[in-house]
Amino acid sequence: MSQLENYIDEQKTRFEDELCEILRIPSVSTDGQHDAEIRQAAEFLVKQFQQMPLDVELIETVGNPLVYAESAPVPGRPVVLVYGHYDVQPPDPLDEWESPPFEPTRRDGNLYARGATDDKGQMLTHVKSAEAWMKTEGNLPIQVKYLIEGEEEVGSSSLNDYLSKPETAEKLACDVVVISDTSQFSRGQPAITYGLKGIAYFELFLTGPKQDLHSGTFGGGVTNPANTLCRMLASLVDNQGRVLIPGFYDDVIPISEQERSQFSTLPFDERAFMQQIGVKGVSGEAGYTTLERRWARPTYDINGITSGYQGEGAKTVLPARASAKFSFRLVPDQDPEKINENLQQHLAEICPPGIEMNLKPLHHAPGFVVSLDSPYIDAAAKAIERGFGRSPVFIREGGSIPIVNDFSDKLGVDTLLLGWGLDDDNTHSPNEKFSLADFHRGIRSSAHLWHELSRIES
Ligand code: BES
Ligand code: MN
Ligand code: MN
Repeated sequence: MSQLENYIDEQKTRFEDELCEILRIPSVSTDGQHDAEIRQAAEFLVKQFQQMPLDVELIETVGNPLVYAESAPVPGRPVVLVYGHYDVQPPDPLDEWESPPFEPTRRDGNLYARGATDDKGQMLTHVKSAEAWMKTEGNLPIQVKYLIEGEEEVGSSSLNDYLSKPETAEKLACDVVVISDTSQFSRGQPAITYGLKGIAYFELFLTGPKQDLHSGTFGGGVTNPANTLCRMLASLVDNQGRVLIPGFYDDVIPISEQERSQFSTLPFDERAFMQQIGVKGVSGEAGYTTLERRWARPTYDINGITSGYQGEGAKTVLPARASAKFSFRLVPDQDPEKINENLQQHLAEICPPGIEMNLKPLHHAPGFVVSLDSPYIDAAAKAIERGFGRSPVFIREGGSIPIVNDFSDKLGVDTLLLGWGLDDDNTHSPNEKFSLADFHRGIRSSAHLWHELSRIES
């Protein structure tokens, strides 16, 4: 292992330069304006695998291409599937970036760029660790398969189609999936994530009169879509933070006393948390701590509201339309489909005369929790200890990676979520960053992981 570690140390600067190379590619998946850059990012990865060399394929889909690579089979040892994504969120708002989002910039030990932590930097650690094995040992000690997609930020629909093909399950057959697309518990305290939230995301459109009206002439006599929208959105939660959709909590698996006490042993500093996000207080579902709310209780958040006059000064107008995007983060065993039905019915019941309503479901995925009792978890914990110099704690996260459910349903395997990021990495926000030290620790942990997994018989 020391030769491997030496290689990783020696190649440090080149690894960083290659990360910068992929970060310069604006592979934004939301708006269809970046098809050329999406392909460029996929091709960058193809070249990475060719150079090791590993067998690699660019798999075309109706959407963005998948990159698939695999190392040689090692009979009797586990097979690992590494999943990651090369697509990124849009960089907006642009004027809040201290350095341009697609010109990666090193500043106080971090690399700043859109996609630095989510997920190009984290994903690349597993590519570089394989390179280190190939260049020093000639091969990996287990078979590693890579599946890197370009639509994670928009719902993974092409990957979903691909996973549904009968021949795919055989091709991707593995013992465990490894994903680095989450966070450590805190700076210097690595973690293994054993739970993610699911999601049910909606867009609600309300239409009133055929055009905007004078709010004096018509107000009071015409149902206002913006007022209605506010009432509808407010009707979904009470002042104790409980969601009011009928049946919403029916299938929620409560947090066990054991898990609550385990959460409470983690060194979570609520003051530091408030300072990090710039607030003087926090609130949420009554009866639960901040970590419980963020990790293990379902939540409701409005993501965007649009209606009426948005310019400077006052305009006395009764808007013709109003719309909102909002989402629920789900925990096991909530069923997004059932929530959709009950929500449709609830909103239709309270929709007043004079308003046409259209509720459009967008993303939906159930929550995810994995057992900690597995040899793969033990192997990952050892590898992280070697890579970070500290053993990991076990956490849940509030984010979603919807495809993990499909890996479990369609491939019948568990997922190891080994996050190298930090909560303050500004994912999806201006000034996204990734700690360069964590990038290298991630590569070392990954290199050790292949070794630790090779000690398991399969
Ligand atoms: N890497 C994130 C998921 C994540 C974020 C996990 C924070 C743990 C902590 C992923 O790229 C992401 O942004 N997922 C989306 C999924 C959605 C588009 C369906 C999310 O969580 O909003
Ligand atoms: Mn991600
Ligand atoms: Mn993301």
